[in-house]
Amino acid sequence: MTAKTYLVTGAASGIGAATCRLLTDRGAQVIGVDRDQPGLTRMIDAGNCAETISIDLADAMAIQANLRGLAVDGVANVAGVGPDAISPELIFRINLLAPLLILDAVRATLAPDAAIVNVASITGEMADDSMDSNLVDPLAADFLSRITQIVTDGPRAYTYSKRALIDQTRKMAVTWAPAVRVNCLSPGIVDTPLGERSKVFSWTEKASRRIPLGRLGIAAEIAEVIAFLLSPSASYIIGASLVVDGGYVAAQGARRSGRP
Ligand SMILES: NC(=O)c1ccc[n+]([C@@H]2O[C@H](COP(=O)([O-])OP(=O)(O)OC[C@H]3O[C@@H](n4cnc5c(N)ncnc54)[C@H](O)[C@@H]3O)[C@@H](O)[C@H]2O)c1
Repeated sequence: MTAKTYLVTGAASGIGAATCRLLTDRGAQVIGVDRDQPGLTRMIDAGNCAETISIDLADAMAIQANLRGLAVDGVANVAGVGPDAISPELIFRINLLAPLLILDAVRATLAPDAAIVNVASITGEMADDSMDSNLVDPLAADFLSRITQIVTDGPRAYTYSKRALIDQTRKMAVTWAPAVRVNCLSPGIVDTPLGERSKVFSWTEKASRRIPLGRLGIAAEIAEVIAFLLSPSASYIIGASLVVDGGYVAAQGARRSGRP
């Protein structure tokens, strides 16, 4: 990954921070994006990012102003908020709209053979299809007002923001190929600040007993798969939604429903 430059969002904590560290260790230049300025400073001080950009990804104008035209070899859209975020609107803005707006902002300046990884969630993988007709065009002007009338609580907003991100990734993967490889990764329960907070809402301590591997994931394990999907080793993977969950989804016997 030497001589490659990657944009990684959510760089100040958890999976994003682990991704920055790993890519940097492998010789890449990493531009870390987060709203947590002290966290970004720590990443620079530790040598885990070459450069950082502090912005609030809920702010579409800030994304345009700061990221449009960045020349990069790849993007890892990792930043996200959990079901406990302040409002469903914020969850959709950060988890769904921000990745799409970021990719739109850098599309024209992506390097040849660039790769994209969007981080979704197993909640999106396991979600029912009841909301699919409302999730088709997230960048439409009335999307947020429409969806937040229907999805009014944090856990459902989280689930459907991630389901929509998986579906948008698949569509984008088809449209952007062969110039750009676009993929998605759905982590299970990962031991990060977000994972810890989310347990209060949707997981119990018993969850780890339902994971065939018998434990939560660690951020570095997810970062390994992000780095793989960004790398030339994943040259034939496009439009995948890779589940990295210690076997949780398989153990639920869950089937994705209603997907093309
Ligand atoms: N931890 C888990 O169990 C788990 C499970 C499934 C999916 N995920 C997904 O993995 C991704 C990373 O989560 P994590 O567990 O590392 O969480 P985390 O809380 O450790 O890190 C999230 C990062 O995103 C940043 N962020 C949040 N809102 C932002 C905004 N508006 N603007 C800029 N930066 C913002 C935070 O500051 C933080 O640094 C998220 O998309 C999350 O939904 C996590």
